Amino acid sequence: MKYYIKTFGCQMNFNDSERLGGILQSMGYEPAQSYEDADLILLNTCTIREKPDQKVYSHLGEYKKVKEKNPRALIGVCGCLAQRMGQELVQKAPMVDIMFSSFNMHQLPELIQQAQAGYRATAILEEPPQDEDKLWDYPTVRDNQFCAYVTVMKGCDKNCTYCVVPKTRGRQRSRSLESILSEVESLVKDGVKEVHLLGQNVTAWGQDIGMSFAELIYRVAQVDGVERIRFTTGHPKDLTEEMVRAMAEIPQVCEHIHLPVQAGSNRVLKLMDRGYTKEEYLEKIQMLREYIPNMTFSTDIIVGFPTETEEDFEHTLDVLKRVEFEQVFSFKYSPRPDTPAYSMEGQVPDEVKTERMRRLLELQKSIISKKARLYQGTVQEVLFESYQEGKLLGRTRTNRWVSVEGGEELLGKLVRVKITKPHLYSMEGELIF
Ligand code: SAH
Ligand code: SF4
Ligand code: F3S
Repeated sequence: MKYYIKTFGCQMNFNDSERLGGILQSMGYEPAQSYEDADLILLNTCTIREKPDQKVYSHLGEYKKVKEKNPRALIGVCGCLAQRMGQELVQKAPMVDIMFSSFNMHQLPELIQQAQAGYRATAILEEPPQDEDKLWDYPTVRDNQFCAYVTVMKGCDKNCTYCVVPKTRGRQRSRSLESILSEVESLVKDGVKEVHLLGQNVTAWGQDIGMSFAELIYRVAQVDGVERIRFTTGHPKDLTEEMVRAMAEIPQVCEHIHLPVQAGSNRVLKLMDRGYTKEEYLEKIQMLREYIPNMTFSTDIIVGFPTETEEDFEHTLDVLKRVEFEQVFSFKYSPRPDTPAYSMEGQVPDEVKTERMRRLLELQKSIISKKARLYQGTVQEVLFESYQEGKLLGRTRTNRWVSVEGGEELLGKLVRVKITKPHLYSMEGELIF
């Protein structure tokens, strides 16, 4: 039996798919090369904006054709759209045999059995079940041998007014320290050098179990063989000085943080219920720079939140200019059903969003071209993750891709590289011995 998983959305969803792969392999399934020769197709969905919703239906339409050739083939939908839509999704998409959400991935074996017996197997719960931790008993199936995601936190207790995540992923639950460390240990045994801790709001880890994120990274760093630590996504409000001190002290923590600001105007930040002002955000950036002088930053921006004026938008551009992010992920505001911002007055017309987005991208391009030039001639530590036709590819501690001519034996090694050609979004370099 063969399986195929298609994943949309964030890194947590990607890590969920790696775990679903682990469940399926423990049941004897093998990966299929394409969905066309799979006996089980899983579509792990995202519903953060309207666009990903639409993609799901077009993919399901394609997958339906597989059933014409192989009537025993099963189609499953999981992830955030499944959680948000529930039964309505199955009604809209009758080809779906199995449906579940991130709350009950551990039930996949039962759901497959039910579907094989001819039932439509759906399990969408209002709340995460008591036994959801069973999930951690399964391994993950990863493509990357050297860098691995580790989910440490599920759900989100913030209530940003534009966001569906608290609804689709439930309340904040920290994974136990013991369970995290045991996964990290087994990953390292498997050859992993870089662990990337994941949570929708990873800096809130521990709040519900009387611990702190700083403690977590100290403990992960103590695991023998962990050479690099990254984490996503930090929330500016939860980022404390204790955490920043830990980041500075722990040699394995990379000099890069993804810290979504979303908007620069205090009025808009308040409407979004982000819990910080522009000034407070910039203070956090300043604190990070003081403790970690070569720190680099990336962020998420929402353009055209309801009532956003030209002046509000100028504040967003101002944050970009002041921080000089290495990467900016910008999104046009997309109204999500059942979120407070959906029904706010003053929705911004699409042409205005498009025009603001264009200006934002233009500004960011000029910032990044300046930032990229600063890498020229510098020596960077690179962890090589992949190899193709005489070229090694890896990332710097600051999260920039570098390609270098070299031999396959350097895969999985941390190597010093001199940057010779810094392009906008990647760089070329040469090995230093
Ligand atoms: N937990 C993270 C973000 C998760 S969602 C945080 O708090 O920052 C990833 C990104 O999608 C968000 O940072 C935001 O920029 C964007 N996003 C979320 N909801 C959106 C919406 N309704 N419209 C447009 N972008 C949205
Ligand atoms: Fe969504 Fe806000 Fe939670 Fe991030 S912190 S997942 S944007 S509600
Ligand atoms: Fe999307 Fe769910 Fe992640 S909505 S961004 S897959 S948490």
